[in-house]
Amino acid sequence: MDFIGANILSVSQFERDDIDRVFAVADTMGPYARRQKVTRVLEGAILGNMFLEPSTRTRLSFGAAFNLLGGTVRETVGITASAMAKGESLYDTARVLSGYSDVICMRHPQEGSVAEFAAASRVPVVNGGDGANEHPTQALLDLYTIKKELEGHGRSLDKFRIAMIGDLKYGRTVHSLCKLLCLFSNVQIVLVSPPELAMPEDVVEKLRQSGHQVTISDQLEPSISHVDIVYSTRIQEERFASQEEANLYRGRFRLNREIFTRFAEPNTVIMHPLPRDSRAEANELDTDLNEHPSLAIFRQTDNGLLVRMALFALLLGVEGKVDQYSHEVRWHSRRNPV
Ligand code: NCD
Repeated sequence: MDFIGANILSVSQFERDDIDRVFAVADTMGPYARRQKVTRVLEGAILGNMFLEPSTRTRLSFGAAFNLLGGTVRETVGITASAMAKGESLYDTARVLSGYSDVICMRHPQEGSVAEFAAASRVPVVNGGDGANEHPTQALLDLYTIKKELEGHGRSLDKFRIAMIGDLKYGRTVHSLCKLLCLFSNVQIVLVSPPELAMPEDVVEKLRQSGHQVTISDQLEPSISHVDIVYSTRIQEERFASQEEANLYRGRFRLNREIFTRFAEPNTVIMHPLPRDSRAEANELDTDLNEHPSLAIFRQTDNGLLVRMALFALLLGVEGKVDQYSHEVRWHSRRNPV
C-alpha cells in the first residue's frame, strides 16, 4: 500500500508487508516516545482531532504522537460541542476541517461515518473508531504488542493461541484484530462471549477461510487454559438499546488473579484495549492483577504511541527524516523504557 496521503479506515487495507513496514517504523520511535530525543520533523503540521464519542487514550495518544513528531494538535470533542449539533453534515465538516489540518483523526458513533467523512476530506483521515465497526489503529497496536510479547518468549505471530473474551458483537477492537489476524498463519482463536454477543458470522468465516482454528465458547475458565494471549474486553454498554439490557452481560466474565493463576499457563499474556470497566458490577479485569508481570495493558498503551507515530510519519512521508531533525532532550525525565 502507498502510505503517503492515504486514509486509514479499515484494517482490510493492509497486506502483510504493510504491517511489517508500520512495525519497523514504530521500532525506530522509541527514543522519542521515551523522551530521550526530540524531533521537529512535523514542525508546522496540524492534526485535526475530531472525537464525537468518549475517548481518553485514543484521542490523547493520537495527539501526543503527533506532538512527539513536532506537530501541533487542534481538536473538537463531543457532538454537542461541535456544529454537527446544529445539523451540519459530515461533508461540510470534512471540507472545512481539512482546510485547517494536514491529517484528521476521527471517532464517530455511526458505522461507516468516518469513510463518508474521508470521501469529502482534502487531507488523510484516520479512523479512531466508527461505531461497532472498526478501530484499525487499536488493532495495529494490539498486534504490535502481541508480537513483542510473543518475541519475549521466543515465539512469533505465525503460530500462537489467543482467547478473545467479552462483547464480541459490538467490540470494534476485536473485529479489527480478527481481520488483521487473517494475514498470519496458524493462529488458534477461542471466542468467548454470551451467545447473544457473539462475534459477527462474517468475521468468524474470514478467520476460518484463512486456515485458522476457531473455537466458540461461553465459558471463561476452560477457554484461558491453553492460550498465549488472553484479550479481555468491556461490555459496550453504550451500544445496547437500554442500560438494563447491557446489565444482563456486565460481570459475566471476570478475570482475576485467582482464576488466572489456577487456569492459565504461567506465560500467558493478559491484554485489554481499555478502558476496563472497574465498577463492581462489571470488573472484567480485576485490579488485583495490576502488578502481575503477565499484565500487558499498559505496555499496550505505551506501544500505541509508537504505532501512531509510525502511521503519521508514513502518511506524511517523513519516516526517513525523523532523526535528521532531532536533538537531545533538555529536561529531566524519569520515564521507564517503553
Ligand atoms: C475501545 C474503543 O473505543 O473501541 N477503546 C479504545 O479505543 N482503546 C474499547 C472500548 O471502549 O471498550
